[in-house]
Amino acid sequence: MDPIDLDRLLPAVWQANAAGDVRALLSLIREIAPPVADVERMSISETLATMRDLGILLGSVKRNGAEPVSEISTLEEVLRLLAQRSGLIPRDTIHHYIRWNPTGRRERMYTGLPMERLLMAAVRISLPRLSDAVDLCVVLDSADAGDLTFALAANELAALVGAMEHSIDTVLAGVTPEFFARTMRPFFEEIRVGDEVYLGPAAAHVPLSVVDLLVWACDHGGDEYLEFADDSVVYGLEHWKPLHGKWRRTTSLVTRVTEELKRCLPDETLSLGLYASAEALCRTMRSLMVFRGKHLTIARKAYAADIGLYELGSGGGSVAMLEAITDATRATSTLLRRSVTTHLKDLG
Ligand code: HEM
Repeated sequence: MDPIDLDRLLPAVWQANAAGDVRALLSLIREIAPPVADVERMSISETLATMRDLGILLGSVKRNGAEPVSEISTLEEVLRLLAQRSGLIPRDTIHHYIRWNPTGRRERMYTGLPMERLLMAAVRISLPRLSDAVDLCVVLDSADAGDLTFALAANELAALVGAMEHSIDTVLAGVTPEFFARTMRPFFEEIRVGDEVYLGPAAAHVPLSVVDLLVWACDHGGDEYLEFADDSVVYGLEHWKPLHGKWRRTTSLVTRVTEELKRCLPDETLSLGLYASAEALCRTMRSLMVFRGKHLTIARKAYAADIGLYELGSGGGSVAMLEAITDATRATSTLLRRSVTTHLKDLG
């Protein structure tokens, strides 16, 4: 959809960003921002496309040193109404920038540069799959660890979460830490809307923390990760919020499967369902570990003192936080793997 006519103006956005021309960017917003009355008549899809397109300009203005809503005060009411109509925050999110953004000639981008396209392609691999993984977690949460239903869903989950490895490999192959740090990161800076500030469309807001909570993090994640997960909820879809609340206070799938394994007596044959479930969870944890190991390497480079421009990542967390999450992921993965091998050994 092109409800506010951005298609024809995309090259002008890229030109203004290349030139650091904040006045041109503000003029573009004044030209295309819809009046409140138009937003009231929009379908939900049109509100999402409108927020996506305004979002590219909001991030561009901020990157060039101005607060968009302070510069154009009428924007606040428009952003708030768009937010209210869609159940999302009053600015664009990773879902607007990636999931609800067409590919090819019409792809909404800040720079138009090939490396931005590759960075977006990397997130395009995992975002829809992780969103599917959240739905699958609902199935897993209500199944008994060891049942065939649980095993089937756990195997599908392993495949979906495996997409995180492909995402980070895409970045490693095509996006330099310098490009991320110097060119892209400034577009994701927070903007002020009224009394609140909202972060930009950060890859850190893919719903991995929602999935992680149920899989392992609610009881193995550590305070730093849980706090980050709580802070990130507002950037997700509305129907994920109650799931986050529920899975924040549950027993993780890793714990459920480990306890089920313990209940199996050494001389009792491990059921097919339980073995398949445990093995699929091991693979899921392994993918998370591989993703986080590679991701940490690139994050360290992009936020190193000689390259980075900011202390914190676009999702509001630090590299030290990533280290803590990576350590906790590795420890949980090892714990689960040990528990499975011990039982297999006991069974001879
Ligand atoms: C050059 C590319 C990248 C850099 C430099 C980078 C850097 C960072 C940093 C510093 C954080 C800490 C929290 C924050 O953002 O405030 C973070 C978090 C995160 N990033 Fe990235 N990132 C990159 C690409 C990606 C990609 C392609 C994905 C895939 C979807 C991704 C997914 C995540 C996730 C899920 C988190 C939350 C913490 C976690 O789950 O481990 N990042 N990233």
